[in-house]
Amino acid sequence: MSIQVKRAYNFNAGPSALPLEVLEKAQQEFIDFRGTGMSVMELSHRSKDYDEVHNQAKASLKELLSIPDDYEILFLQGGASLQFSMIPMNFLTPDQKASYAITGSWSEKAFKEAKLFGNPYEAASTKDSNFSRIPQLSELKYNADDAYLHVTSNNTIFGTEWKDYPAIDIPLIADMSSDILSRPVDVSKFALIYAGAQKNLGPSGVTVVIVRKDLLEKANTNIPTMLKYSTHAEKNSLYNTPPTFGIYMLGEVLNWVKGIGGMNEIVKRNEEKAKLLYDAIDESNGFYVGHAAKDSRSLMNVTFRVKDEELEKKFLAEAKQEGFVGVNGHRSVGGCRASLYNAVPFEAAKAFSDFMKQFQKVNG
Ligand SMILES: Cc1ncc(COP(=O)(O)O)c(C=O)c1O
Repeated sequence: MSIQVKRAYNFNAGPSALPLEVLEKAQQEFIDFRGTGMSVMELSHRSKDYDEVHNQAKASLKELLSIPDDYEILFLQGGASLQFSMIPMNFLTPDQKASYAITGSWSEKAFKEAKLFGNPYEAASTKDSNFSRIPQLSELKYNADDAYLHVTSNNTIFGTEWKDYPAIDIPLIADMSSDILSRPVDVSKFALIYAGAQKNLGPSGVTVVIVRKDLLEKANTNIPTMLKYSTHAEKNSLYNTPPTFGIYMLGEVLNWVKGIGGMNEIVKRNEEKAKLLYDAIDESNGFYVGHAAKDSRSLMNVTFRVKDEELEKKFLAEAKQEGFVGVNGHRSVGGCRASLYNAVPFEAAKAFSDFMKQFQKVNG
């Protein structure tokens, strides 16, 4: 007997919506994974059955993002936050500089960690506009002998996203936690890309790192084994026990993306969903006020305010009542935020944009 489940309109910023098809498949395979008589969580990470899951997830990511052969794909733990430390620990020395584009709270956190290992400085900062925009490429400061330039491709809290990246001779490193796999990206522009899985890739607990092999060869060696990228690269991310269930889910999410038509289809869907909400803002004659500058708008996190505070409280209360989950803005910005990650269906975005229009009609 199949049970009808009511799925929420989930606009959470992360962890966030996962494709229903993936959840259903995981449910089917939960107790007996492909005839093994056990859950994928109960398999040895050294077994052939798990090996297939692990390598299939890697291969799918490589295929979807067209990752060139001279890159390693790593599945780590510790979240994107541990990457804030691992990057300078591996690639920065006390006498070296590294440039950080400060476009929001996450880049500030990454910058802070780098200070423990070397001399990071600001490539640019948009703090004076409360991070409502991405800097122009021409604003970025960096030097030929910097260890790297670090950017946050999508600013989850402020709802801004880089549209283009600088072509530079020093290693370009990107925190893509909140927009990886949402649109095609030219991986070859980057020396290292990292992302916590819990938005577009799967459940929390897995962190994906895509790193060019030549960077690994130059990395510092006087650091703990578990915090060296080369440890994980040399052992195919199986130096210690990996988060096996998370990697299985990641593989299934990637299969889902392939099944619906890959990156071109994903970006098309994401643009359609984001347009619904941005149109509702732009056509509201100032009833809704978008936080992000138009040329910096994120496809993933739509941030806005309602024109006065009392109405905003009412808007959020009614949104909750109507079943829209996760639309309160982050505490550091306030207002409203709808996160439209890959697995958020078009119907959810449509229902929310209709709600916005209806609310304005009644209260505007
Ligand atoms: C852009 C960005 N970077 C880093 C993080 C921190 O990720 P984690 O919680 O996996 O450490 C987040 C979390 O939301 C994020 O959105």
